[in-house]
Amino acid sequence: MLNIALPKGRLGEKVYDMFEKAGYDCPSIRENNRKLIFENEKLGIRFFWVKPSDVSIYVERGAADIGVAGKDILIEYKPNVYELLDLRLGKCRMCVAAKKEFRDEDVKVLKVATKFTEIASDYYAGLGRDIDIIKLNGSIELAPILGLSDVIVDIVETGTTLKENNLEVKATILPISARLIANKAAFKFKGAEIEKIAEAMKGQVNND
Ligand code: PRP
Repeated sequence: MLNIALPKGRLGEKVYDMFEKAGYDCPSIRENNRKLIFENEKLGIRFFWVKPSDVSIYVERGAADIGVAGKDILIEYKPNVYELLDLRLGKCRMCVAAKKEFRDEDVKVLKVATKFTEIASDYYAGLGRDIDIIKLNGSIELAPILGLSDVIVDIVETGTTLKENNLEVKATILPISARLIANKAAFKFKGAEIEKIAEAMKGQVNND
């Protein structure tokens, strides 16, 4: 059996569509229920739904042979996995955002609220800017509005969340998209199988 960790949610549905079109289908996954594991015995594959930020943990530790994780997670947590393919799905960008009127005067330590403390620290270290990192777990946009931070480092997809909270992008740190990743040991022992899937998935990538 080849174990495949899919990110639960909207991105995961699109990723599964790609697997299906690539010939790796598992019809029971379409049934509307709360099951987390789905098998296609004939193809020798097993899909399971994982919280998106946990996919790389399952793959790194070998509970999944392959999986799909955002580039943001791969950069932030640096899991020891192979990155096989950019699926060009779930495209968004990691940005610095703040209130429209905010200007960084560079005179005091900048308060930065984020879920992505490594990405934020690396970015500001590169600029030589002293910062105070405030680690949050969600609704990051609240921080500058309530004066908890000066800026946020967060994911921007459509820009709607920022707009509706009177915030704006001040700088783009990096582009993000979903990546097919593999466990290193699995790649050694099931390499042919994994490369076959990666090749079939490559044929489904939308290059527009
Ligand atoms: C993410 C991100 C932004 C939002 C951006 O949040 O943290 O809040 O999506 O999307 P947009 O530009 O299309 O509005 P998510 O929904 O993952 O929830 P979170 O508050 O738990 O981070």
